[in-house]
Amino acid sequence: MAEGGDKHPLADKLKSALDALSIGDTKSRPKSNYAFWSTQPVSQFGEAEEGSSSATGSGNGPIDAPKTVADVKKEPYALPANFQWDDCDVDSDQTLAELHELLSLHYVEDDENMFRFAYSADFLRWALRPPGTRREWLCGIRVTTTKKLVAFISGVPMRMRVDGEERPMVEINFLCVHKKLRHKRLAPVLIREITRRVNLTDIWQAVYTAGVVLPRPAAEAQYWHRTLNPRKLVEVGFSRLAPRMTMARAIKLYRVGATPTIPGLRPMVAADVPAVTRLLTGYLASFRLAPVLHEEEVAHWMLPVPNVMHTYVVERAGTGELTDLLSFYTLPSTVINHKTHTSLTAAYMFYSVPATVPLAQLLGDALILASSTGHDVFNALDIFENGPVLRDLKFGIGDGKLRYYLYNWRVAKGMQPSDVGLVML
Ligand SMILES: CC(C)(COP(=O)(O)OP(=O)(O)OC[C@H]1O[C@@H](n2cnc3c(N)ncnc32)[C@H](O)[C@@H]1OP(=O)(O)O)[C@@H](O)C(=O)NCCC(=O)NCCS
Ligand SMILES: *[C@@H]1O[C@H](CO)[C@@H](O)[C@H](O)[C@H]1NC(C)=O
Repeated sequence: MAEGGDKHPLADKLKSALDALSIGDTKSRPKSNYAFWSTQPVSQFGEAEEGSSSATGSGNGPIDAPKTVADVKKEPYALPANFQWDDCDVDSDQTLAELHELLSLHYVEDDENMFRFAYSADFLRWALRPPGTRREWLCGIRVTTTKKLVAFISGVPMRMRVDGEERPMVEINFLCVHKKLRHKRLAPVLIREITRRVNLTDIWQAVYTAGVVLPRPAAEAQYWHRTLNPRKLVEVGFSRLAPRMTMARAIKLYRVGATPTIPGLRPMVAADVPAVTRLLTGYLASFRLAPVLHEEEVAHWMLPVPNVMHTYVVERAGTGELTDLLSFYTLPSTVINHKTHTSLTAAYMFYSVPATVPLAQLLGDALILASSTGHDVFNALDIFENGPVLRDLKFGIGDGKLRYYLYNWRVAKGMQPSDVGLVML
């Protein structure tokens, strides 16, 4: 790997197991035929980049002609015999436990099946219950006879701004089909059904991310990994020591301080919501693709949640003014079939706002905070302004990409990772 060797000894074989993507180079090219996606209102491969959109003529805009709720099919899509739709009520502990089990055993794994995302139940409840969400957008499939939950897809509402145009959209996430039911075309049924349910609320656009190549990415971001616990990462096979690197040297190389360095850095509290909303709104305005967050959403997405979300603000001494923001979330992965280790704890960079403090210092403190709270690795994408600072902070490049997609929205001009101001969980 290009970044291997002496400069980033452990980055040698850093795996993106922990991100949704891990697809080697051979898989980063489009397939020759997409039986499902070629029928959907998404940008297709082979289309001219600067095409003209039916709706706006500017090249940016909806792909389908405008529809109304009355045009939308009222009945759910048909399922194979012995399967039924069931909306998941994640406020119910039992349903949440069932969803947690489905995802724990069947959600995203790396290419070599060494790691699998292990979203905690608390994480799922937080991720799936933001303001304005609807139970029918937490769309499950159960076996009719046993009632076992075997497939799932979620949508949560999010106002998005794309190239200056603001729209209500949904973020689609947690698409999962039980391993025994794969390759039976259940995924397209889940996608069509959630689209129908979203259309019924007069929303016609969605945003989603995936590691796989589908028609057609609006942006492609690269994962980077910062080793915090080299011994553990080597033991579980997440990374390996480069030639001439010893464990003792690696430990020294990746050691971070014990306490944050930024004066006035403290955990975010509820009273900070208005100021954090202003900070985020100002910062996100500079990206081509970003959510539009009001106070209610900021309260939900940004306030700390124990063992899930970690958010810090920088408060200026004397004035009490909030100047900067930093946040990351915790996403463990199961280590599959290992003699001694069962799980790996990763921190993922979430929204940060550098203003009076350089991004590198904010991220540096994020590493310290993540390390001191038991995270083994810190992951970040090269979105926002991250790209230029990751290497200096001893991040190594991962082997997977994360692709950003828009449903029924064409962007005339492909986006760079640095155009993206959106993090999906
Ligand atoms: C992703 C998953 C639900 C797909 O189900 P499957 O049984 O493998 O595939 P199906 O036969 O039902 O459907 C295949 C279609 O879904 C598409 N598809 C596969 N993964 C997809 C994804 N992540 N997002 C959107 N579409 C996807 C395929 O491209 C194909 O459509 P095409 O014919 O147009 O190419 C399943 O493999 C799974 O649960 N994997 C583990 C979890 C996971 O990776 N989730 C997605 C996270 S982004
Ligand atoms: C939902 O809307 C999109 C965009 O107009 C359309 O392509 C799709 O067919 C609609 N689906 C349903 C079930 O109405």
